[in-house]
This record gives sequence, C-alpha cells and structure tokens, in this order.
Amino acid sequence: VKGDKMIGIYMSGTGNTRHCITRLMEKVTGRAEVFAIEDPSSVDAVSGADEVVLAYPTQFSNVPYMVRDYINRNASLWQGRKVICMATMGAFSSSPCSG
Ligand SMILES: Cc1cc2nc3c(=O)[nH]c(=O)nc-3n(C[C@H](O)[C@H](O)[C@H](O)COP(=O)(O)O)c2cc1C
Repeated sequence: VKGDKMIGIYMSGTGNTRHCITRLMEKVTGRAEVFAIEDPSSVDAVSGADEVVLAYPTQFSNVPYMVRDYINRNASLWQGRKVICMATMGAFSSSPCSG
C-alpha cells in the first residue's frame, strides 16, 4: 500500500450497512467518503484509493451475490490495495469474504 487514502464502498438493502460504514469512515478518516457499489463512480473512487473498506449485509451466511459479482467484474481493481471487509448481520455470524 503506497499511501493512506481510505474510502468505503458498500451494498445496503434497508440502510443498516450504509449507516455503519458511514459512521466507521467518519471515525477512522474524519470524513465519510462512501459509495454504493451500484454507483459507477465507486470504481473511480476505488482506483484513487490505497485502502478500501468493503461493507455488505450478510445474506444466507455469505457475501451477497451482487457483491461477489462486483468483485469479479472489477477483478483488477483490488490489486495493490488493501481491502478490509465489514459485514452487518441480523442474527448469526458469517465468514466475511468467503464468497
Ligand atoms: C435475503 C437476506 C438474507 C439474510 N441472511 C442473513 C444471515 O444469514 N445471517 C444474519 O445474521 N442475517 C441475515 N440477514 C439480515 C441482514 O444481514 C441484516 O439485516 C443486515 O444488517 C441488513 O443490512 P442492510 O440494511 O444494509 O441491507 C439477511 C437479510 C436478507 C434480506
């Protein structure tokens, strides 16, 4: 990791994950630079970052399909940067990034 620019990207259905990543980024970086993965500008935002927090809701004890698809469609994006996964959940645990 070359620099220390950190941003957040997320998928959120009812808003829990968006709330959590926004609060986390405010605490860690002092500002909330967060982008929904549905937003095409999230790709440019990741390109300009050194560290990325990827946040998603646990679905069926796993990473949601939409998030796995985003990771795979943008495979080269993850090279050379640190990616930290953050999962929210309703009741029981999952294996983050197991997808
Ligand atoms: C289709 C679906 C599957 C889910 N599966 C799980 C699960 O396996 N374990 C769990 O603890 N919560 C599960 N949940 C609950 C969500 O992970 C939880 O409510 C999350 O905080 C929702 O985040 P969001 O508001 O950003 O969408 C599931 C929710 C949905 C809609």
